[in-house]
Amino acid sequence: MPKVPFNWPYVTGHEFAYMQRAIADLHVSGDGQFTRKCHAMLEEMLGVPRVLLTTSCTHALELAALLLDIQPGDEVIVPAFTFVSTLNAFVLRGAWPVFADVRPDTLNLDEALLERLITPRTKAIVVVHYAGVACEMTPIMDAAQRHGIPVVEDNAHGLLGKYKGKNLGTFGCLASQSFHETKNFHCGEGGALVINDSGYYQRAEILREKGTNRSRFFRGEVDKYTWVDVGSSYLPSDLLAAFLCAQLEAREFIQDRRRRIWDLYRAQLSGWAKEKGVALPTVPAHCEQPAHLFYLLLPTEADRDALIAHLKKRDIYAVFHYQPLHLSEMGRKFGGLEGQCPVTESVSGRLVRLPLYTAMTEAEQSAVVAGLMEFDWKSLAADKRR
Ligand SMILES: Cc1ncc(COP(=O)(O)O)c(C=O)c1O
Repeated sequence: MPKVPFNWPYVTGHEFAYMQRAIADLHVSGDGQFTRKCHAMLEEMLGVPRVLLTTSCTHALELAALLLDIQPGDEVIVPAFTFVSTLNAFVLRGAWPVFADVRPDTLNLDEALLERLITPRTKAIVVVHYAGVACEMTPIMDAAQRHGIPVVEDNAHGLLGKYKGKNLGTFGCLASQSFHETKNFHCGEGGALVINDSGYYQRAEILREKGTNRSRFFRGEVDKYTWVDVGSSYLPSDLLAAFLCAQLEAREFIQDRRRRIWDLYRAQLSGWAKEKGVALPTVPAHCEQPAHLFYLLLPTEADRDALIAHLKKRDIYAVFHYQPLHLSEMGRKFGGLEGQCPVTESVSGRLVRLPLYTAMTEAEQSAVVAGLMEFDWKSLAADKRR
């Protein structure tokens, strides 16, 4: 039986040659030729005017919080079921996170709750397209527009996903992408800020370059560069952009492989899942998901934990995902209470992510499926009775 890791960072084979070229060209700091190539590819893939590479999705979200001028006491609506960076980037600026529960089907921010969470202090709504399956963007954008509140999309999982035919990451005024090694396209650690509202472009460039107009200086638009705003250093080395460039160039191949693996999981597990009361990911008909992750929702947390342990005994590494943020140590400091987000609290304990990586072999995937089929539900029931 093969050992099956949860993730295996894919390498196309061109990364090293591109990195060597960056070194030979003596430009390894940020915004070199490979960064420009990545910007152009991402802009073309998404059909947007501006993308800026960042050192992570977390940093792209920090840039978004700076661009929206989030101030202490401002409220930011966020899903309770997400990665900590979705809100930490805003909390860092003094924002108060307002936790929204998620839908039981897509595990995305429940748009039906939005109106009652919006107050005069709401300064942003941050949505996460979990597993790259879109949030209900039509009602979300309608509510946001009605109240004049900007929407930021944390699209860490959703590059190439679509909602009603439109790319995820192109709905909010700003969106973030992740190129962490667990993502479909990666450079170890990396990210991008997608700028859909051109009013933010000039300032984004400055904030990303330590609060200076250095980018304008490099383009020959000013004769020296100087301190013009607050800022930090959010641009990655061109070595990382060179790595990412190879990945983005191979996007069709990568997506094809991942889609096949995702579809096979769905086809091979649907009968078993129905019989055992296990839910597979819900993808509404108007959404296209980018095969980033495949999860199961088990009937109970005990089932989920026992299944992870059962697979681990077979050297198969399946993992849980987010803990409810409103019940975390920090979340409770922001008023998080048990029962506040019941769907988040329920799914978080029952969710398990299956191994899914671009280079996954048929034998590895078959081992995962066989491992699931051989999970002994009866002994679990006996355990529970004891
Ligand atoms: C929804 C979400 N947002 C943000 C991040 C952070 O991404 P990064 O590691 O690129 O900062 C993650 C991490 O996986 C995530 O799942």
